This record gives sequence, C-alpha cells and structure tokens, in this order.
Amino acid sequence: MKKVLIATEKPFAPAAVEQIKIVLEEAGYQLNLLEKYTDVDEFKKAVEDVDALVVRSDKVTREIIEAAANLKIVVRAGAGYDNLDLDACSEKGIVAMNTPGQNSNAVAELAFGMMIYQARNGFDGTSGKELRGKKLGIHAFGNVGKFVAEIAKGFGMIIYAYDPYVPKIEIEKYGVKVVGSAEELYKTCQYVSLNIPANEETIRSIGYQLISLMPKGATIVNTARKEVVNEDELLKTFEERPDFSYLSDVAPDCKENIESNYKKRYVFTTKKMGAQTSEANIKAGIAAARQIVNYLEKGDTKFQVNK
Ligand code: 3PG
Repeated sequence: MKKVLIATEKPFAPAAVEQIKIVLEEAGYQLNLLEKYTDVDEFKKAVEDVDALVVRSDKVTREIIEAAANLKIVVRAGAGYDNLDLDACSEKGIVAMNTPGQNSNAVAELAFGMMIYQARNGFDGTSGKELRGKKLGIHAFGNVGKFVAEIAKGFGMIIYAYDPYVPKIEIEKYGVKVVGSAEELYKTCQYVSLNIPANEETIRSIGYQLISLMPKGATIVNTARKEVVNEDELLKTFEERPDFSYLSDVAPDCKENIESNYKKRYVFTTKKMGAQTSEANIKAGIAAARQIVNYLEKGDTKFQVNK
C-alpha cells in the first residue's frame, strides 16, 4: 500500500484533511499525518518510508529528501515552492509540484482585509479612509494578482498592473491598466500589492528606490514573501515617510523595530495567513492528493516544477 505523508507545521482545516483522505483512500493509499511539529527530526522520521509528501510552507530541505528513502513525489499544496530544495529532489528523481491557483482567492481576500483594517485605523473609532477611487498597483499579474484585480473592481479602485511575463492583452481583459515598468507602477499608485514569487530575481528587490516613488499615503501590501522586501530600506522608508504603511501576512524580520517605532503604520498577521481558509485548504489539499494519485498511477507530471 502506498503511503502519503501530510507534514504541516501550520495544519490544514480538518475538513480539508478529511477530503484529502477520501481521495487517497479511493486510490487505495494510506494517509499519515504530521501536524504542528516543532522539531525537524519528527519530520525526518515521518518521511522515512512514504511514497509521497504533501507540505505547505514547510521546508523540504536536502536533509528531509535524504531521509525519505521511498519518496517519489512531493507536492507543495499552494503556489510558492521556494521552500522545496528542487535540486535535491531532481538529484533523487523525485518529482516536485505545486498546486497553482487553488488558494489564490483566499490570499487576495486577506490583502483587502488588511487594507480595510489599515484604512480604518485598526477600527479604533477614529475617522479613516476609503478604498474607492484610490489607485492600486498589482505587482505581478499571476493567479493572486487576478483575484486582487477582481476584488479591487468591487471596491471601485483604479487598477494598474506591471508584469513583464504576462501579455498586455491578458491583463487588460480584467479592466486593468498596464504600465511598462515597476517604477511607473509605484509612481502611480498609493497602494501596491506584491504578488511576485520569491526567486533570485525578486529577493530584496522591493526597496527604497521603488517605494520612495509612491504618492502620499503609500501603502505596500505584501502577501507574497517577506524575502522580496529589502528590510533595511523598508526601515529607511518608515523613518523618512510618516505617511508610509506596510501590511503583510508574514511579519518581516525587523518586526520589533517597526512595532516599537511606527505605531499604527503596519499590519502583520501572526503566521502566514493568506491561504488559511477552509476553502483554500480544501482546494489545494484535494489538488495535491489528486496530483499524487495521477502521478503515481499514470505518470502525469502536469504541475511539475523541477523539470
Ligand atoms: C502559497 O505560496 O501558496 C502561500 O504563501 C500560502 O502558504 P501556506 O500554505 O503556508 O499558507
């Protein structure tokens, strides 16, 4: 019997685990669950004899891969796969996949949750601001960016996007104005939603040079990765611009500095929370389980990311 391990330091909603179990049981597979683990040794032990692995932001390092003697496939139930050591997977012939798009609406909704919370001064009873009529820049128009655009329309925002990898015509279909450079996006928009992946090109790429171009009331909404922001330059911006706010569903390393010195100008969730809804967990979890079955039974590599 094939064994599938779900290793989630931040567990899926119970309903999602139930549904994943149904998909795996139908295929005759066994589900092993390792949730809220605190020690990497627990993860190493649990992965030892499994054929397939499902994770979220859990770090699948070379050490984990080496401990997994039978592993054939690892699926990151979510979009960003910067937590997987792809080289280590490839070297051992292990297929790595993600489940693109499945949790994107949840992430986009949280971006707006944070924007409203900030615009209304943390619901502290004072007069806040509205989103209607404000300019929103979507930095990278992938799956999350599309949902951000859809929701922003409902709020009556004026929407711009920059994505050198998506044809202009594709973005314009969403009623979004396309700009030709990141500089233009930041110069135009009071709100910028970061929806870029974390990779060599983007890590620490969002810094003073871009943010300082933003108009008054500049607000960066980061539901991507903390690593894409240059934190030294983030602090410099906080220091120089009293009108600047930073909203993020994952706290930066310089969180304490911001919390002590720049009150009311930030929102940080306790854990990475963008994808933390039952709906997103169910969709991403079921997709991961199906992809595992399709790969192990039929060799389907559609969502492979380490080709
Ligand atoms: C993703 O890349 O899919 C999101 O950042 C969600 O991450 P999570 O599964 O750890 O919540």
